Amino acid sequence: MISIKQISEKDIDLCYELDSNTISLWSKKQWANEFKHKSTIIFGLLITNLVVGICVFKIVVDEAQINYFVIDQKFRKRGFGSYLMRYLIKRCEKLNVNRLLLEVSRKNVNAERFYTRFDFSTVGIRKNYYKDGSDALLKEKKITTK
Ligand SMILES: CC(C)(COP(=O)(O)OP(=O)(O)OC[C@H]1O[C@@H](n2cnc3c(N)ncnc32)[C@H](O)[C@@H]1OP(=O)(O)O)[C@@H](O)C(=O)NCCC(=O)NCCS
Repeated sequence: MISIKQISEKDIDLCYELDSNTISLWSKKQWANEFKHKSTIIFGLLITNLVVGICVFKIVVDEAQINYFVIDQKFRKRGFGSYLMRYLIKRCEKLNVNRLLLEVSRKNVNAERFYTRFDFSTVGIRKNYYKDGSDALLKEKKITTK
């Protein structure tokens, strides 16, 4: 059974573990910082009790920024990322968010294709943004609020 639930700080180990096994973006300290921001929402995609995906997003007035979006390697290409993204978009609609933003490496072809399917368009480029020297593409999706 698939479900989505908000993740609290007590599950920080779980977030860190999934991150370490996938894109290794943040240290445990950085994860702890994410949980401290009041405007940040962290939720997980679960299959029964197993967390297979995590999304971290932050709302500032009428804009939302996706700071983290990952599906466990073993569960990719089965529609779970799309499930989580559809949920996030619905949530933004309800919260009257007009713009959803994220950064993705120019080298991350899979993720870019994924976001393009959700009508994200490139609105900026941050040169040499990542540790490996690759550029970040700044992507935006306009949200129609209800
Ligand atoms: C990007 C990411 C979140 C996508 O997650 P996912 O669960 O694989 O996403 P989906 O399964 O919904 O869609 C991925 C592809 O699988 C295809 N797919 C979906 N269900 C499928 C199925 N049952 N059988 C075969 N293919 C399927 C989709 O059509 C999609 O095709 P695309 O490559 O043209 O977009 C995942 O690859 C990931 O975690 N990447 C690493 C982290 C990352 O790069 N994050 C983004 C930067 S912040």
